[in-house]
Amino acid sequence: MREILPGLYIIKKDRLATRSPSQEPLYGEHIADGLRVWDPRRSKLAALLLRYPCLEGVVPSGKVLYLGAANGATVSYLSDILTEGMIYAVEISPRAMRDLLLLAERRENIIPLLGDAARPEVYRRIVEPVDLIYQDVAQRNQAEIASRNASMYLKPNGLMIVMIKAMSIDSTARAADIFDEEIKRLWGVELLKRVDLPHHRDHIAVVARKLL
Ligand SMILES: C[S@@+](CC[C@H](N)C(=O)[O-])C[C@H]1O[C@@H](n2cnc3c(N)ncnc32)[C@H](O)[C@@H]1O
Repeated sequence: MREILPGLYIIKKDRLATRSPSQEPLYGEHIADGLRVWDPRRSKLAALLLRYPCLEGVVPSGKVLYLGAANGATVSYLSDILTEGMIYAVEISPRAMRDLLLLAERRENIIPLLGDAARPEVYRRIVEPVDLIYQDVAQRNQAEIASRNASMYLKPNGLMIVMIKAMSIDSTARAADIFDEEIKRLWGVELLKRVDLPHHRDHIAVVARKLL
């Protein structure tokens, strides 16, 4: 077992694990040596961090705006490693929000927000400047949504991670061309890295930094 970021461990070569306050499974995951196993096949963020552990300076005390929180599975692992931080978790689906609310009841560092990430002005009164924007919304206009949120909420030099799903943008064009085009549509940030994700063939992760 090796710690690759504060509170984030690599175990068994290709699995991550975190230390949760309760040491019990939240989404049916395995517990190994008291740690919650974070499976890269089930979470794109886990797949990214195994290849490119880019959260230095964000964990353990950063603030995160998470767009497309779904039922909170990936949010829960971020919550484990942001022991002194805060996650603003935006989700548009009321059904998914019900599960997210259950998670947030158990965690003081998650603020769930039912809303549309394409309208970032709606949560203006709640969200403060953040160190990381993580987006996984699987929408046609993914780059535009990420860029608008970054322009409003990301601190200068802050990190942005966008999971781009080719099929959500165009089901007929070549995935490689779609990824190139979508990256060109990002604005206000400089590209740091583009990462192919193991186990998530239709996706890439784009890591960028907000311009000063
Ligand atoms: C691929 S899932 C996210 C999975 C989640 N990030 C995880 O790893 O556990 C995409 C989520 O984005 C949500 N979503 C789609 N469009 C959205 C929008 N405009 N604003 C907020 N959430 C959105 C969907 O309802 C869905 O729950």
